[in-house]
Amino acid sequence: MLEWSRPWEMVLDTSEAPFWKWFTGGELNASHNCLDRHLARRGDKVAYHFVPEDEKEPLQSLTYRELYRRVNEFAVLLREFAGLRKGDRVTFHLPMTPELPISMLAAARLGVVHSEVFGGFSGQACGARIADSGSSVLVTLDGYARNGRTIDHKANADVAVETARKLGQEVRKVLVWRRYPGRDLSQAPMVEGRDYYVDELLPRFRGTQVPPEPVRSEDPLFLMYTSGTTGKPKGCQHSTGGYLAYVTGTSRYVLDLQEDDIYWCMADIGWITGHSYIVYGPLSLGATSVLYEGVPSYPDAARPWRLSESLGVTVFHTSPTAIRQLRKSLPEGPRGHNVRFRLLTTVGEPIEPEVWKWYFDVVGGGRAAITDTWWQTETGGFLCSTLPAVHPMKPGSAGPPLPGIFPVILDEDGREVPKGMGHAGNLCIRNPWPGVLQTIWGSPERYVAQYYHRYSKKPGSKDWRDWPYLTGDGAIEGADGYFRIIGRIDDVIKVAGHRLGAKELESACLTVPEVAEAAAVPLADEVKGRVPDIYVSLKPGSASSPEVVDKVRQSIVGLIGKIAAPQHVYVVEDMPKTRSGKIMRRVLAALSNGADCGDTSTLVNPEVVENIRRTVGTGASPKTGLSREAILQEVRDLD
Ligand code: WT7
Repeated sequence: MLEWSRPWEMVLDTSEAPFWKWFTGGELNASHNCLDRHLARRGDKVAYHFVPEDEKEPLQSLTYRELYRRVNEFAVLLREFAGLRKGDRVTFHLPMTPELPISMLAAARLGVVHSEVFGGFSGQACGARIADSGSSVLVTLDGYARNGRTIDHKANADVAVETARKLGQEVRKVLVWRRYPGRDLSQAPMVEGRDYYVDELLPRFRGTQVPPEPVRSEDPLFLMYTSGTTGKPKGCQHSTGGYLAYVTGTSRYVLDLQEDDIYWCMADIGWITGHSYIVYGPLSLGATSVLYEGVPSYPDAARPWRLSESLGVTVFHTSPTAIRQLRKSLPEGPRGHNVRFRLLTTVGEPIEPEVWKWYFDVVGGGRAAITDTWWQTETGGFLCSTLPAVHPMKPGSAGPPLPGIFPVILDEDGREVPKGMGHAGNLCIRNPWPGVLQTIWGSPERYVAQYYHRYSKKPGSKDWRDWPYLTGDGAIEGADGYFRIIGRIDDVIKVAGHRLGAKELESACLTVPEVAEAAAVPLADEVKGRVPDIYVSLKPGSASSPEVVDKVRQSIVGLIGKIAAPQHVYVVEDMPKTRSGKIMRRVLAALSNGADCGDTSTLVNPEVVENIRRTVGTGASPKTGLSREAILQEVRDLD
């Protein structure tokens, strides 16, 4: 499915296990595969229908030829004006407009490694990622529409550059796309000699082209930062050849994208879902996709259905959170709209069977296939899913593994939990596959420790059988070989499908001078699945006040972004602790969710539990189909 400028010599090289190398000896270029090779046959085919949030603003349809032209011009700009070369990293902090895929493909064309930071992340979060990746160029946008308001996005760039500088990384140039060329949506001043409007530079490069730089299959295509057990986000490094092969193949077989499909993935390109299944997979197949700027519920809950009707969307991809939201705000769904979905897919969190049924019956009219795709930032593409119209569907279960993926459930001692036993264990993948991350940028030790150390049988082994990949998810394998994902086992909280580290939230709380200790736990939420609840205790001499609570909230939003905003911030006199000083997050999670705290006799301070219960009240009763027990299983105690 790909064009290689040089064929590979070896499919999988395990000589530096567990650093897998796919298709070694081969050379290719991702931008060539997504653009150039389609020009002859699909030059006039639409690659993206860009739909602005404001319904009065006209749709922009970009053909493959138009996309090719814009990517080339920006690639020349990146090379000539910004001085970027093969192997350099460039950070993007871009929201959902065509400039994001254009920037990604332009970087890929030069062999420059892109690192896109989700547009909703704060300037500080962006700055930390700039510093970690060693980017000296930041590409951003002046502003965009979100829920009817105009977001001043350029303001984040100034914070990002300042944060990166404090961390030792100088940003030479900030390239600012304007949402409306020539018109400014940002109040932030342009810094002389650092900040440049892309639309003012582009005329110099009008009509210019740059040949796609052939890169080695194992050369990195991009970094995608994600959260894990520790406070510091990790830059998952994805390869060019293996990754592109994997997302192209899975877009064909799981998304089933055909020549005449109109495909809409409602995710944000700032997450891995968008990289793999809005940009690289669909473009590599020459598909037509919808790119939507805004919030699905703007200006009202029928927007997705009007949009799907008017563009004739056939394949629709979204998250359980979005489906829950759509169902809650408009239970009749697209009824009354002439939608013609043939495939509906979901990703990012477990979907409750009743939500699944609504998606199937009401959105799909009982005719469209549903696929529940399970995977991760690290895995590059789908790992478990039914194939549409091939496998029977089972609500609440992601399904069987894809061809070439061999999952296994291991218990705490590394023994296999046979299928059909009905109990959960740690979901691992026995074998490497082409889409798997190559390493964590700058931290090869952390990569091994995080994903392979737990169950690696023989350190130093060159045999892939000795390196099961630890996903960080708990799961149950049914007798039919379908996998049901229970949730994370590593202090990751999935909020509306977004991945947040409990440690990251806690570190943000600890930057507030009054705060002595902090714990973040998941609280069940009817729409978002989970939201963070925060507990803090204060230093001696500091008293609880609305200001302290506000500072904690502001610090989380400032350091991470609005998506991390906690539901509650509880100031407690003391944390429930074990004799060894561990904070019992599990007790706090039970209190937040109105669940039984279990045995608290091992605490040094059991009396605090009742005090905290009084502060919290009876706790929210989870209205989701997910049990309280499932939430408590995701929570570990804090050393
Ligand atoms: C975590 C990965 C996968 C791309 C978007 C999220 C959870 C993902 C499912 C699913 C149940 C799911 C897992 C996984 N997850 N898909 N279909 N059913 N849970 O990528 O941000 O890296 O998150 O999302 O817990 O480990 P991510």
